[in-house]
Amino acid sequence: MRHAYRTALVTGASSGIGESFARLLAGRGTDLVIVARRAELLDGLARELVERYRVAVEVVAADLTDPAQRAEVEARLRAEPVELLVNNAGYGAFGAFAELPLNDHLAQIDLNVAALVRLTHAALPGMIERGRGGVLNVSSMSGFTPSPGSATYGATKAYVASFSESLHSEVAGKGVHVTALCPGFTRTEDDVPPNLLWLRRDDVARAGLEAVSAGRALCVPGVQYKAALPALRLVPRPLLRAAVNRMWQQAADTR
Ligand SMILES: NC(=O)c1ccc[n+]([C@@H]2O[C@H](COP(=O)([O-])OP(=O)(O)OC[C@H]3O[C@@H](n4cnc5c(N)ncnc54)[C@H](OP(=O)(O)O)[C@@H]3O)[C@@H](O)[C@H]2O)c1
Repeated sequence: MRHAYRTALVTGASSGIGESFARLLAGRGTDLVIVARRAELLDGLARELVERYRVAVEVVAADLTDPAQRAEVEARLRAEPVELLVNNAGYGAFGAFAELPLNDHLAQIDLNVAALVRLTHAALPGMIERGRGGVLNVSSMSGFTPSPGSATYGATKAYVASFSESLHSEVAGKGVHVTALCPGFTRTEDDVPPNLLWLRRDDVARAGLEAVSAGRALCVPGVQYKAALPALRLVPRPLLRAAVNRMWQQAADTR
């Protein structure tokens, strides 16, 4: 790793890819602030990381869609800056747009976009001032394609990729890196081996950390997804729409 971060705040650290971020960072000696709703999972993880790696771990139990709780995390970032912010917490509601409750769509926008923008805004000015820092925003391969069956989720992830790439350019040369991590399908349990479609969460998190420390704008983990990205960009959009729609219809029919 080119930059060793002394401190990091990771959202969504209670499970999945976020837990992998926390473990990998602690293993590299980074002191952590870990954020999610499930306090008992965060507490258990914190205890384990403190014992195993002798790092400091602060648990912040917060629902990042709750304005008051989210504001506390923002205030924490402004008052006690971290060198790396990992905006990982995210969620997708699956189903036809018109059939899902409006609140499901709005909650995804609130968490995947509004919370990410707010926390980035709380952390970035201080990083620029200090001339050091990183923001790693977790997007998705679905940010690059139309996403029938998860239209709002895909749109939030397209936002995250575009937003991060723009910020990456804005802060270039200031010692601060902003990176979008765009994983494909990622197993959030460890007992299943990776295959052509499925990535391992540790591999995804490791790729993201390496990308932000190396100052890359975009990170697509896994050779299979790396190879797919240029193809996705070249395929005529009507063909791409037809293909993803067929996949969504087939998945819906088998439910
Ligand atoms: N797995 C994949 O295939 C895949 C592919 C591409 C991108 N991603 C992205 O990767 C990121 C991590 O997802 P994952 O697959 O690891 O899923 P996950 O295991 O469900 O983890 C999501 C994390 O976000 C937290 N979270 C959810 N709602 C929250 C809220 N309102 N406030 C605070 N924290 C909240 C959850 O913790 P609590 O429930 O304790 O709050 C959990 O720690 C997401 O941004 C996701 O969109 C995943």
